[in-house]
Amino acid sequence: MTSISLKTERLLLRRWRAEDVEPFAAMCADPKVMQFIGSGATRSLEQTEKSIEVFERQWEEKGFGLFAIEVLDESAFIGFTGLSEPSFLPEIMPAVEIGWRLSREHWGQGYATEAAREALEFGLKDLDLPDIVSIFQIENEASRNVIVKLGMHFDRRTNDPTCDRVVEVYRKSAEHHEGKAKTR
Ligand SMILES: CC(C)(COP(=O)(O)OP(=O)(O)OC[C@H]1O[C@@H](n2cnc3c(N)ncnc32)[C@H](O)[C@@H]1OP(=O)(O)O)[C@@H](O)C(=O)NCCC(=O)NCCS
Repeated sequence: MTSISLKTERLLLRRWRAEDVEPFAAMCADPKVMQFIGSGATRSLEQTEKSIEVFERQWEEKGFGLFAIEVLDESAFIGFTGLSEPSFLPEIMPAVEIGWRLSREHWGQGYATEAAREALEFGLKDLDLPDIVSIFQIENEASRNVIVKLGMHFDRRTNDPTCDRVVEVYRKSAEHHEGKAKTR
């Protein structure tokens, strides 16, 4: 699992590297990017560095995690997609969540959906997870749009107790997923 990487038509999904810290910190310092994440607070360089350590530890401990995303032609970090455990929302636990975050200059090119489709496939087919949820704050139309394009189904509307914001939970089960199993 340590060397896992996935390719789509335009993107590489891979484990995190030291050189991702700087562009990821710039993304997480952008209020527009962070607007619908938790309380909407931006993150410092130190917090971003710690997040990457947590992402990488999760890969080692759980065998799944968040992928850093690169545009294949450019070899440059543009954001992340992948799997995590949404422990901030105890009412749906145990669960595995798919999420995404891109730097602003890479929005509107279909990259989030392209990457997330591959990560969803990885979770449901390669890892054999029974289902995967996605959670977004209801004003986050861009995220809702990605979720709908992934063919996920409404599960519930509830409150994120960590920031008292209204979220919706969508879900996709392996049973209702038509992707093909891959051999890697
Ligand atoms: C959520 C987020 C990742 C969505 O990014 P995005 O670029 O809007 O998402 P997509 O990949 O679906 O691309 C959107 C648009 O790109 C356009 N596009 C341009 N070229 C394209 C191509 N080659 N293929 C597909 N779509 C393309 C499409 O018009 C598409 O919109 P549509 O589906 O309405 O037609 C982004 O807004 C973000 O990082 N937000 C901040 C972080 C965040 O809120 N994360 C989620 C927390 S729940």
